[in-house]
Parts: sequence; C-alpha cells; structure tokens
Amino acid sequence: MYNQSQLKELVDKALMNLSYDTEAPRLIDPVKYIMSLGGKRLRPVMLLMACNIFSDRINDAVMPAAGIEIFHNFTLVHDDIMDQASLRRGLATIHQKWNVNQAILSGDVMVFLAGDCFLQIPEQNLVRVLRIFNRAARDVCAGQQLDMDYEKAVIVSQDEYLKMIELKTAVLIAASVKIGAIIGGADDKNADLLSEFGNNLGLAFQIQDDILDVWGDSKVFGKKPGGDIVANKKTLPLVKAMEKASVSQKKILQELFTEPEADPEVKVRKVIEVYDELDIRNTTESLAREYISKAFALLRKLPVEEKRKQEMVNLATSLIEREC
Ligand code: IPE
Ligand code: IPE
Ligand code: MG
Ligand code: MG
Ligand code: MG
Repeated sequence: MYNQSQLKELVDKALMNLSYDTEAPRLIDPVKYIMSLGGKRLRPVMLLMACNIFSDRINDAVMPAAGIEIFHNFTLVHDDIMDQASLRRGLATIHQKWNVNQAILSGDVMVFLAGDCFLQIPEQNLVRVLRIFNRAARDVCAGQQLDMDYEKAVIVSQDEYLKMIELKTAVLIAASVKIGAIIGGADDKNADLLSEFGNNLGLAFQIQDDILDVWGDSKVFGKKPGGDIVANKKTLPLVKAMEKASVSQKKILQELFTEPEADPEVKVRKVIEVYDELDIRNTTESLAREYISKAFALLRKLPVEEKRKQEMVNLATSLIEREC
C-alpha cells in the first residue's frame, strides 16, 4: 500500500514530466506557473488512493490523476477571474500577474491538456472514465453558474447552498475516487459507495473552505481573507447567519450585502462582527463535521480489509483540522 506522501510524490512527478508541446510558449507560461504553486493535490491523491484500495498496481491511474489535477487548476484559474481574486496559493492569480484574456485562454488549454491525460487510460476503462469525468466537469460549470447567480440573490436557503457546493466542488472529488476505484477494478457497487463517500467529504471540504475564507490565516490559506464577503458570495456562514439573525442583525447584513459602495475592509469587519455575535463559526463547523461523519460511515461499509482503507481514513481525518 502507498501512503499519502508517496502518492503525492507520484502525482507531482507525473505533472512535472508532462510535455506542454506548443508553438506559443506564452500560452503555457501561466499553466506552468499555476501548476508549480503547489496546492494540496487532494483530488489526484484521492484518485490513486481509491485505486490502491482495490489493487496494488496503480500505474494506470497516474495519468488520469494528473488530468484531474490539471482540470482542477483550470477551474481555479477561471474561478479567480469570476471571483476577482488577487491571491492564490499565496501568490498573484494569473489574471493579476498577466491579464484576464491570458487567464481565459491559458485556462482553456488546460481543459484539453487534462483530456490528453485521460486519453492515456487503458482502453477497457476509457469510455466509462471519460464519461464520468465529462459529467463531473459539466456539473462544476453548473455549480459555478449557481455560485454567480446567488451573488445577486438576497436570500439563499441551506438546500440551495448545498446543491451549489455539491456541483461546484463535491462532484469532482466524488468523480476522482470513482475513477480511481474503477481503474483499480472495483465493482459498480463499491465504486458508487466510494463516490458517495467523496461527495460527502467534498461537501465538508467546501464548507471548511467557506469557514477559512472568513476566519483562516491568509498566510497559511493563501487566499485573500474575506474575499467571499466582498464578492457577495452566499457561503454557509452567511446562509446560517441570515437564518439565526435578529431583525436588526438581518437588516445590517442585508444592507452590507447590497450596498455597492461599501468599503471592502469595513464591510468584512462588520459582517464578521455579526457572524461572531451569532456564533456562526461553531454552527457551520458542526455541519461540516456531520458530512465528514457521513463520509466515514460510508467508508466503513466498504467490504474490504480495514488495512486497505487506512490511508483514506487518515486523509479524511487530516481534512477535519485543515488550515489551508
Ligand atoms: C480550492 O481547492 C477550491 C475549492 C474547491 C474549495 P483546494 O483547496 O483543493 O485548492 P488547492 O489545489 O489545494 O490549492
Ligand atoms: C471553488 O469555490 C469552486 C471551484 C473552483 C470550482 P471557491 O471560489 O470558494 O474556491 P476558492 O476559495 O476561490 O479556492
Ligand atoms: Mg468561486
Ligand atoms: Mg474563488
Ligand atoms: Mg472559497
């Protein structure tokens, strides 16, 4: 069995060895930049880990793992344009360092670079895996659409929020483990079980991302704090705050989230003040913990030896306390 750091090494090596053959190097410079900024490599590591649960041979899963990571990085490049984010993994975002058009085009090519990686899957799994990947990629776009739509909505319900984060974040994590399981030779039932595990872990993961955007340490988190508040994002902290707020607190939040001229720093400070009055950090963290527990329960149902699941258990456990 491979451990988490061995798998991350395999992913990093595969990504480093990719050839970005092109006649326009300027197209690829931002790709190399974003891919070299690190990141947790969560999705490809989970893909390989899922494969390794069912098989000791994980070679065939390495290229699709690289493909998932490139696709994920593409979503970040375009997401940062949409969210007007200046910082990613502690450094300037591509549209800041180059410009928006460059970030659009270099992001575009990453989708096809990801496709090239998937094409290296052995034929017997190719169509099935590509179908799962394409479906997940379309879902991410749909989730991002809802995320944008909700910037303009005054009230977003918890159910609407959960659907949005399932699409924009959880489905890709679910697809990663499902693809890994299939390449490892899992049967449909077990592949679906792991997918459901990934989905629940993904929901918790996005909730924690929302929490870190408010209360995280920017130096560790690598993104500009309060970015979601400035961009009027309907994150779980806001959804919960609107649920729990008194009439006067609701009025304060509604004004802050609709006032176009608000000074960003003042807005962030005032919103966090209300969140803290309402103990929103604890409220949202407990929902994240619920989804992690569901994920663990699903993993327990997987009918393989305990030791084969241990690395996945360790990884899921480490995500509970993550700060970046
Ligand atoms: C960021 O993903 C986008 C979300 C879905 C929250 P990660 O937190 O996995 O980002 P990196 O790849 O580690 O930088
Ligand atoms: C992540 O949403 C979803 C995708 C990138 C698809 P966020 O907008 O919260 O991600 P970060 O916080 O910028 O990484
Ligand atoms: Mg976003
Ligand atoms: Mg963003
Ligand atoms: Mg975020």
